[in-house]
Amino acid sequence: ANVVLLRSQLLNWYNRDKRELPWRTLAMTEPDLNIRTYAVWVSEIMLQQTQVATVKGYYNKWMKRWPTVQDLAAATLEEVNQMWAGLGYYSRGKRLHEGAQKVVSELKGQMPCTIDSLLKQLPGVGRYTASAIGSIALGQVTGAVDGNVIRVLCRLRAIGADSTSPAVTEALWSLANALVDPERPGDFNQAMMELGARVCTPKGPLCSQCPIQTHCHSYCKVHDRQKKNSKKL
Ligand code: ADE
Repeated sequence: ANVVLLRSQLLNWYNRDKRELPWRTLAMTEPDLNIRTYAVWVSEIMLQQTQVATVKGYYNKWMKRWPTVQDLAAATLEEVNQMWAGLGYYSRGKRLHEGAQKVVSELKGQMPCTIDSLLKQLPGVGRYTASAIGSIALGQVTGAVDGNVIRVLCRLRAIGADSTSPAVTEALWSLANALVDPERPGDFNQAMMELGARVCTPKGPLCSQCPIQTHCHSYCKVHDRQKKNSKKL
């Protein structure tokens, strides 16, 4: 019951407060799974090392020029690098291009449509990116743990241990998989990312604005102590 409440509170906040981003609009409106998967793949690779505000413009330009995986496969690496100019970490563009050529030449133009095959077939796609694409583009029910989500989950469960250790990483993925909303996995994961980017920030989390404050072990610890202290006075 508690996790059901957490999901609905987080998703209500996301419905009200989310940023309009082009790949989100596409995920709401584009019915073709091959295009959805391609588009979310492009957005997630761009977002790997670049901020949302910068990615928006590059993503729109890219999708206008190469609206399908076939269009990208037919481009040259020089064209891709030109398009990438200013984004940094050029190997990301190269891997998108390589991946598109592989999809066209080896997979009959069909984007991989499971998390396992995304992970295996696409260069530059690791566990997080495969899960993000699977949930956002394909509605697959999986958590997606990136840097923002690690911070949110560690605070939510008051995990003080080193979050880069393999045991903690596994525990965070298990937790994310247990929390994700089975009806709206892509929105749930993007809401967690959004919470980490805008509310549960690295410096000074804005707990008074947090939609899942009452579920948060870190928040409750501080809050309980304050309540006890005020009783003593
Ligand atoms: N960072 C990585 N993926 C994202 C997404 N889909 N929305 C917002 N920030 C992100």
